[in-house]
Amino acid sequence: MTTLQVSDLTVRHHGPRGPVIAVDGVSLQIPSGTTLGLVGESGSGKSSLARAIVGLDPVHGGKVLLDGRELRVRTVRDRRRLGRLVQVVLQDPDTALDPRMTVRQTLVEAATAFHRLDRRVRPERVAALLELVGLDPRLADRLPRQLSGGQRQRVAVARALAVEPGLLIADEITSALDVSVQASVLNTIRELQRRLGLSMLFIGHNLPAVCYVSDTVAVMRQGRIVETAATGALLRTPQHPYTRTLLASVPSLRTPPTEEEPS
Ligand SMILES: Nc1ncnc2c1ncn2[C@@H]1O[C@H](COP(=O)(O)OP(=O)(O)OP(=O)(O)O)[C@@H](O)[C@H]1O
Ligand SMILES: [Mg+2]
Repeated sequence: MTTLQVSDLTVRHHGPRGPVIAVDGVSLQIPSGTTLGLVGESGSGKSSLARAIVGLDPVHGGKVLLDGRELRVRTVRDRRRLGRLVQVVLQDPDTALDPRMTVRQTLVEAATAFHRLDRRVRPERVAALLELVGLDPRLADRLPRQLSGGQRQRVAVARALAVEPGLLIADEITSALDVSVQASVLNTIRELQRRLGLSMLFIGHNLPAVCYVSDTVAVMRQGRIVETAATGALLRTPQHPYTRTLLASVPSLRTPPTEEEPS
């Protein structure tokens, strides 16, 4: 379990017409074992923020603290330490996995990459990881192309969990999936929170989906966080006009996703 603190973080990109400030002085906190949802329209800077946290996008200013220690990604050792603590799952289940590796190889590689001493990953471990993300362990010897999009996304989550990170960053992991499959993956995320006590940054542009899995929700717009509140409070008494606009565009917020994906 890991505590994340981000203070006054700024991320700048080089766009075709000069610098783009993607993240503009953002501060947030994820106490150990809780989930922060980050919601905002396309281009608001969500992925830039996530990528900067793990050193994939350049940090122009501000600080990232993991368990109180400032995060620096300068050396291979830094990257290993970071990878052990924080794992990221991205949107696209099609490019996330190596097409030539079976599910088992993918999970074993992830588990051994960060835990040198634990070279032998037993079959039970692979089965347990697959069960954790709601997959039949018999899928272990399949290749990504022999799986559905939802199954591939679950494998990507299992791979991240194989590393036993303290913090999981999920960036739009359900956006590319059918609505019913989305609901099922969201339920899996909730189950993982309950069983593993993970800290999580859950990013999406679908407010109900983000609220469904988050303790606290931060609303991002044009590189800034305009409102942060406990999920219930955000739904009941949104403070910022932009949050109200987001809420107004959602038909039925209180219906939790229930449909199940055939496995
Ligand atoms: N590598 C890059 N080079 C230049 N500009 C970038 C780069 N990555 C992102 N941007 C710009 O930074 C801004 C924020 O992009 P970002 O991808 O962080 O948004 P987002 O909230 O994740 O959007 P989405 O919901 O579409 O994923 C946008 O204006 C985008 O065009
Ligand atoms: Mg994004």
